[in-house]
Amino acid sequence: MRKPLIAGNWKMNKTEAEAISLVRKLIQGVKSQTSVDVLLCPPFTSLSQLHKLLVSSPILLGAQNISEQKAGAYTGEISAEMAGEFCSHVLLGHSERRAIFHESDELINQKIQSALSVDLIPVLCVGELLEERESGEAANVISRQLQAGLKGIHLPDPEKLVIAYEPIWAIGSGKSASADDTGSLIGGVIRPTLAGIWGDDTSQKIRVLYGGSVNPGNARGFFSQSEIDGALVGGASLSADKFLGIIEQTF
Ligand code: PGA
Repeated sequence: MRKPLIAGNWKMNKTEAEAISLVRKLIQGVKSQTSVDVLLCPPFTSLSQLHKLLVSSPILLGAQNISEQKAGAYTGEISAEMAGEFCSHVLLGHSERRAIFHESDELINQKIQSALSVDLIPVLCVGELLEERESGEAANVISRQLQAGLKGIHLPDPEKLVIAYEPIWAIGSGKSASADDTGSLIGGVIRPTLAGIWGDDTSQKIRVLYGGSVNPGNARGFFSQSEIDGALVGGASLSADKFLGIIEQTF
């Protein structure tokens, strides 16, 4: 019922020339297939060029961040409206934004409102630290992040939001979570929390991805879990072979 989504988060990697070369390979690999949605989140500097390259490809573009402000004197920031000129999606609440740039749940909530106001689909990232997992706190942490991040958000259409569950200890570490644990956590914590906000029917329609050291070798295990609707891929999305290898595991 929920279409798989494979998203690549390039983080602060790839010059414009490198981005174009990678996207050319991905266009070839993805061709016109539409059984899985493919989303690329490059740095802002490549969005305009990639948007032109992707006009006749089903590959979608996303931003890695936006400002919570609409416009004005905010040096260095990019508004939702500006990102929306090129993108269908925006990553929000990534653990690197939370930890390095001190983004709070309240700020993330404002950014989600800004994104939805211009029809950008937020990909809200949530996840626990290793200490929180080891002390049995993971479920509380994730549920709190979802409730605070989504507070007061009117969601007319469940397709206008994606959740990415990314345990922080699994990001860039080569140590992914187990597919079974992830499936249980999504089914036992994330969907019930979403159901508490918008009801069961909506919670069943929102796509929930797993992220954290996904590669072509472990992807199928995640995708075979009925609760996991795809992946948010960091490191492996920088290589066409690896990213296409992950997309293939959804077939
Ligand atoms: P990773 O990153 O795949 O390199 O672990 C995932 C992410 O940060 O979204």
